[in-house]
Amino acid sequence: MRLFVAIALPDAQRGRLANLANGLPGARWVKPENLHLTLRFLGALDGGQAADVDDALAGLRMPGFDLHLEGVSHFGEGRNIRQLWAGVEANPALTRLHDKIEQAVIRAGLPPEPRKFKPHITLARFKSNPGAKLGDYLAEYALFRAAPFPVEQFTLFSSFLSANGAIYRPEAEYALERAETMANGGGC
Ligand code: 2AM
Repeated sequence: MRLFVAIALPDAQRGRLANLANGLPGARWVKPENLHLTLRFLGALDGGQAADVDDALAGLRMPGFDLHLEGVSHFGEGRNIRQLWAGVEANPALTRLHDKIEQAVIRAGLPPEPRKFKPHITLARFKSNPGAKLGDYLAEYALFRAAPFPVEQFTLFSSFLSANGAIYRPEAEYALERAETMANGGGC
């Protein structure tokens, strides 16, 4: 089973991101229901490995936190542009969650992820080069910023390829500890 660990987004944030899906030739936009922030890509695991990862993730303890979607950028440059994404405001709690998940996954017996964590929400992949329109698009959405939302859990997703594109299915959810967050009215 092909698996990854991610933060699922609330409907309001998915709606805000879906509004960015226009005006870019060559873009294959991610369906709103598929928008997510990957914390760790696991790849294809057998049942035993998946159970070990699930156990390790279930043992993770950390308070919930608020997350702010902010900014639009891309991976790849010029002719090699690959992917358009929305970013997040710098967030030490998100980094800590990522690091704890990485440790849990290694404890479960998987090799470490060599690539640096760059939190992003993929908005589109390119089937052809958007050319100069990319500059216009980035200028238009340079100030993109959504309201903060509370991250209260993270999710182990499976990924299947269908004729209609990727299907992501939540396999397990892991609650974070309750925390007073600005986004749910606390924080005084
Ligand atoms: P992406 O959004 O940057 O493409 C499900 O496919 C999730 O796993 C996506 O968020 C995707 O990241 C990530 N993913 C897919 N293949 C990957 C790989 N080989 N290495 C790291 N992340 C990957």
